[in-house]
Order: sequence, then C-alpha cells, then structure tokens
Amino acid sequence: MANDHQFKLKTRYIATRGVDEYRATIAEIVTPDDVVLELGCEWGTTTRLLAQRTDQVIGTDVSAECIRRAREMHPQLRFEVLDAFDVLAALSFGQKFSKVYIDLSGISGYRSLLDTIALLTMYATVLRPEIIVVKSGSLKQFAAHCEAWKS
Ligand SMILES: C[S@@+](CC[C@H](N)C(=O)[O-])C[C@H]1O[C@@H](n2cnc3c(N)ncnc32)[C@H](O)[C@@H]1O
Repeated sequence: MANDHQFKLKTRYIATRGVDEYRATIAEIVTPDDVVLELGCEWGTTTRLLAQRTDQVIGTDVSAECIRRAREMHPQLRFEVLDAFDVLAALSFGQKFSKVYIDLSGISGYRSLLDTIALLTMYATVLRPEIIVVKSGSLKQFAAHCEAWKS
C-alpha cells in the first residue's frame, strides 16, 4: 500500500492529443541544454523539430525500416532502433535525458491507458527525466478529470 516513505517520482507528465499538440510543446519545453530521447520517431519529422531546439536528440523507433528512412531523410541526426518497452536498452545509450517524447502507434486509446501509464512510470523511474511528453488522447482526457488531493 502507498505510504509517505515510498520513492517519489519528480518527473512531470504532459499528455497531448494529436500530433499538432504534441509538436507544439517543443517550443515551450525544449531548451538548448536539454538531452532528448524520442520514442516512436517514425521518419524523424518530430526529431527534426526537436533538433531545432537542442543538438542533443536521439530519435528511436521499433521499426528498422522507419529508422533506415529517417537516417536517409535526416543524415545529420541520430536515429536508433529501440523497442520503447525495453527501457534498459534506452539506458544503454548512456545519456542523462532531461526530456522524453513518446508517440507510439496504438497507445492513444482508452484500452491501452494502463500500458501508457506503466510506460511513463518505467521511464520516470529509470531515466528520471524532468518531463515526459506523451501523445495520448485518452491520458489527456483522463488527466483533465483528475485532481491530486492535498490535505
Ligand atoms: C504515429 S508514428 C510516430 C510519428 C512521429 N512521432 C512523428 O511525429 O512523426 C508511431 C510510431 O511508433 C512506432 N512504434 C510502435 N510501437 C513501438 C515500440 N514498442 N517502440 C518503439 N516504437 C514503436 C511505430 O513504428 C511508428 O513509427
């Protein structure tokens, strides 16, 4: 059961609906000092936008074909094949990521809400970034109806 001694996560989660909102956060959140990990980069469109704010960005995707194409389209950027659920592989990049961007196909709906929360918690616990931005309409909707009770 939760108690006052349990490990407290410092990471802030930002839930967005749709790719326009997801990308709009970049100008507000990412600064030149940031080290950014992107999960689900597809062909690197968002990676390129992130790279306009900081030169320390790694775009990753589970699809080797997406990564091949991303490298072809953006040869100046770093892309790696990574299954987002393999957080230890993300750790092996050896970087202290300050921001994590997550846009995985299939995690936006209500059915995958628990998987999404588990993924966020895993990255917050292991990589301990300041902020994780996730594209998940269902999480945004859920979070909008949540309040943390402060006694
Ligand atoms: C909607 S696309 C991402 C679009 C990209 N964020 C952008 O802004 O252009 C979703 C991507 O998630 C990737 N994906 C799905 N499951 C994944 C997983 N477990 N780990 C990493 N990438 C995954 C897919 O291969 C796909 O390229």
